[in-house]
Amino acid sequence: MQITPQYRKIQHTPKINQPAFKGLMRLDPKTYAPLDSWFFRDYNTLKAAADEIKYTFPQGAEVLDYACSNGEETISLKALLPDTRYKIIGYDTSESALKLARRGIYTVFSHWHDSFLLPDSSPNRIERSLKSGFYNIMEETGPDAGDLFINNKKTYFMLKKGLPGFVERFFRISPEMKEEIDIRRGSIQNLAKYRSQTSKPLGAVFFRNALYQLCGNDLNETIEQRKTSTFSYDKKAIIEDFVDKLYSRLDRGGIFVIGDHIKDHLFLADKMTPDEETIFFKDSPFFNELDDRHKKVPFIRLFKESPLTTALEKNNRFTPVGYSTTRLVTGGKNMIVPTIWKILK
Ligand SMILES: C[S@@+](CC[C@H](N)C(=O)[O-])C[C@H]1O[C@@H](n2cnc3c(N)ncnc32)[C@H](O)[C@@H]1O
Repeated sequence: MQITPQYRKIQHTPKINQPAFKGLMRLDPKTYAPLDSWFFRDYNTLKAAADEIKYTFPQGAEVLDYACSNGEETISLKALLPDTRYKIIGYDTSESALKLARRGIYTVFSHWHDSFLLPDSSPNRIERSLKSGFYNIMEETGPDAGDLFINNKKTYFMLKKGLPGFVERFFRISPEMKEEIDIRRGSIQNLAKYRSQTSKPLGAVFFRNALYQLCGNDLNETIEQRKTSTFSYDKKAIIEDFVDKLYSRLDRGGIFVIGDHIKDHLFLADKMTPDEETIFFKDSPFFNELDDRHKKVPFIRLFKESPLTTALEKNNRFTPVGYSTTRLVTGGKNMIVPTIWKILK
């Protein structure tokens, strides 16, 4: 299946007009892996995934939230699936992210995607219900010295100085919910060996905005900066192997959920990609002929079809059941892309 704008439109995520920043612990200080996350990121997908899990597994299920970073995503999922029949476990490989998760202190800012969670925000209808789920788990806490220490102070103070009216609030998992938020060290690469923690079916695997780290799809914010790096990864082989493991482990009716970042959907060709499976950037739907940055690099080779989509659709193993929008950060069109994949048989 080719990347085309054919998918049905979904409600778009909120528009950010203010200077953007990507969370205070942006990179793992040891591996430089991006750790950025926020509460209810791409909430249309999260909500649709939670509804799908409830519908297919009313008796309960295990939900594995791989690449949960320091836990905003796992907490968001818990808010959407509060029933204890759903056992949600967050996993991440970054020691730095896990250290923050163990601390259990989180920040919510103004000027950002999850600022609707601030106590005096004016959320829309969907956000109101997300906010209420959030406050069932989290409570405000004061920023004592230890809490500030968990953040990247340099960025924090820079933001505070640069954004007049910048507001931040600190939250912690309320003591009675502490046991419910289960975050561990673990890599999705060990999925085939994963042993269930309960007798429940494995209903969902989340791996959002992280696949690019596994397969070296170093297609970053600026496509033109990244045209030659990580060229030697065999992305297709890595992804096929990954999807085989996923398929063998998930129960029937289970879902696989990916992110809305461009790096989960558009893949740079590598040394192993045959020419007939590639497309020039200028011929892809993401190219904007009016954008000077795009015009500089029309001949970057990309996979014509996302190798992830190809692997998921092989033998009709997975079918897309939920969508979101993605775009190059340098501009160009918004594209509707599948983010929730279900095993039907
Ligand atoms: C950009 S963050 C995305 C966090 C969150 N999923 C979201 O979308 O907001 C990517 C995360 O993937 C984690 N990660 C990378 N490779 C992983 C793997 N093989 N297994 C589990 N986590 C991984 C990184 O440590 C990092 O925390």
